[in-house]
Amino acid sequence: MPEAHTARRKDAHLDLCAQGDVEPDGNSTLLDCVHLVHNALPELALDEVELTLTLWGKVLRAPLLVTGMTGGTDRAREVNRDLAQVAERHGLAFGVGSQRAMAEHPELARTFQVRDVAPHVLLIGNIGLRQAIHMGVDGVRRLVGGIDADGLALHLNAAQELSQPEGDRDFRGGYSLVQALASAFGERFLVKETGCGIAPAVARRLVDCGVRTLDVSGLGGTSWVRVEQLRTSGQMAELGALFSSWGIPTAAAVAGVRRAVGPSVKLVASGGIRHGLDVAKVLAIGADLAGMALPLFRAQQAGGVAGADAAVRTVVAGLRQALLLTSSRTVADLRRSPRVVTAPLKDWMESL
Ligand SMILES: Cc1cc2nc3c(=O)[nH]c(=O)nc-3n(C[C@H](O)[C@H](O)[C@H](O)COP(=O)(O)O)c2cc1C
Repeated sequence: MPEAHTARRKDAHLDLCAQGDVEPDGNSTLLDCVHLVHNALPELALDEVELTLTLWGKVLRAPLLVTGMTGGTDRAREVNRDLAQVAERHGLAFGVGSQRAMAEHPELARTFQVRDVAPHVLLIGNIGLRQAIHMGVDGVRRLVGGIDADGLALHLNAAQELSQPEGDRDFRGGYSLVQALASAFGERFLVKETGCGIAPAVARRLVDCGVRTLDVSGLGGTSWVRVEQLRTSGQMAELGALFSSWGIPTAAAVAGVRRAVGPSVKLVASGGIRHGLDVAKVLAIGADLAGMALPLFRAQQAGGVAGADAAVRTVVAGLRQALLLTSSRTVADLRRSPRVVTAPLKDWMESL
């Protein structure tokens, strides 16, 4: 089957993410500035640590989301199906990548469909702002229904679009679209960034539009500006180099957004989450769950379902260990446990 232009671009992205240097050295989540305090006598057994939480009416066995990555090609189909199976096995949430290719070529729906291998997983559809404006609420509803997803993630990626020669240059009309989608999907609607973070003031406006779940997707992990930089040349590549460290570090975004929106909003922390201790730190400073993309994609590429399964097991084991060593039976205990926050995160938290 001839594969569409959008789908081919996604495969080029997968190649770069599988092997390329897509996490620039200087970029940091600033999670190194969060120090959880060791408890030498935790008075707790590892089995007692409780990680479950409820999101959109479904119970997750660990506070983890495999954030949306791909779809549109046969290779992408395999990634989605492998990672969805692993999410199902461990009781995690799972998001597909942008369904733009499916909107343009409905026959590509099968590359996003995972329900037959992950019947119970909390499944999240995905579309970008501009495409959602273009297709309207009913079109977006059809995309979500077409894969039997539980809800929708709307992704914001202004920095990436500006780094693509063929990318969008007009970002007007976003908040009214968000308001329409929030009223259509209710609580089953998430707004996410894609590695540049969401600032507290933007989060507050999104919540005023009715958004109840946010993924800050901050700086410190996969840089989409960097990915585009690697695909382009000339002025585009130069601008890509200039902006490949642009964004709000994940730790600063989580702490700032939590303070701005209060406890009732569900907050996902993604962007550079690489192990169980990172997960524990973002939960401690205000996230309800952590999201991971690149490390799980790479684990799947290297070792299929077994590789991704082992990676998830290690993350969950690290998280459990961090809770035990801070004498936290639950995530709520972890949030109350002592921690030290050092500069430069401290500066970000004071200034944001
Ligand atoms: C291969 C790959 C493809 C991605 N495609 C999408 C996408 O289609 N839609 C989206 O919302 N985010 C996409 N993302 C962004 C991730 O969901 C996430 O927000 C970001 O990569 C930060 O997480 P990480 O540092 O763990 O990779 C993609 C990430 C990767 C690695």
